Amino acid sequence: MFQMKGKDFLKLLDCTPEEIKGLLTLAADFKQKKQAGIPHRLFEGKNIALIFEKSSTRTRCSFEVAGHDLGMQVTYLDSGSQLGKKESVPDTARVLSTMFDGIEYRGYGQALVEELAEYASVPVWNGLTDEAHPTQVLADLLTVQERFGGLGQVKLVYYGDSRYNMGNSLMVGCAKMGMHFVVCSPKEYFPDPQLVTVCQKIAGETGAILEFQEDPEEAAQGASVLYTDVWVSMGEPDQIWAKRIADLSAYQINQRLMELAGPKAVFMHCLPAYHDKKTTVGKEVCEKFGRDCLEVTDQVFEGPQSIVFQQAGNRMHTIKAVMAATL
Ligand code: CP
Ligand code: NVA
Repeated sequence: MFQMKGKDFLKLLDCTPEEIKGLLTLAADFKQKKQAGIPHRLFEGKNIALIFEKSSTRTRCSFEVAGHDLGMQVTYLDSGSQLGKKESVPDTARVLSTMFDGIEYRGYGQALVEELAEYASVPVWNGLTDEAHPTQVLADLLTVQERFGGLGQVKLVYYGDSRYNMGNSLMVGCAKMGMHFVVCSPKEYFPDPQLVTVCQKIAGETGAILEFQEDPEEAAQGASVLYTDVWVSMGEPDQIWAKRIADLSAYQINQRLMELAGPKAVFMHCLPAYHDKKTTVGKEVCEKFGRDCLEVTDQVFEGPQSIVFQQAGNRMHTIKAVMAATL
């Protein structure tokens, strides 16, 4: 079995292309086993802690189901724990390391998960920070690989706020995998120039192409994947919606962009998505700004080119691979 024993999984920049490929192969193997009903309780007797300082459906469920499939006991900690209020990150890290074999953390700054990992003596897995969402991008890469039979020839265009976790992690993941990655947004939403420089250096080694484009229609031409995320992320203030809608509406993924990309192209989204008004936030924002949907139209989301639920399901297999390889 592919191994990264004892390593943390904090951001894709820390992984070599070979490690990412190894994790994808392991995830595909676990997926096959799960679908065939072949048990893989490889870590019977181990215990893992899941810390969530922000909401989650996919990531939490993926860690819980993957943990159980691997034979482990899972403990969930939310805002009811002492972390950050009465106990520091270093102290919590050392306490949890005496009881658990691995720790997942979802929260705010990347510095927090890095500090947790520095003080923990067991592997720490990043379940999303403001700056990175590495387990999501592993699932995205597996999904693209399943759909197109490989990653090298794939042009993936990311529409929206490219400075946040999804834009950053997709850029790093695509650069490491030698893909053609296009950021498509207004200039002020382009990723941090320092990260761009690092990724351009990686691209020089892997053969990846990185492009920064402001024209949504031009970006869609010849694309294999049109990808977007919410325009306001967890932890950002609600007041920012007005500016984001003004700045990013032209970057909404709609049928016109899908048609420009062509019939073989797919639509991807890390989810949750505001494609209709069936959620409290979606309804409130849409009604306030006189819209039916936000970053993607319902037609595209529900359409035949959308692979978002296959993508969501792959979160579990890839998270299982991360835990198994590092434990
Ligand atoms: N994509 C993702 O991380 O979803 P959750 O917020 O539901 O975990
Ligand atoms: N950018 C989003 C991703 C959710 C999976 C957020 O941080 O809320």
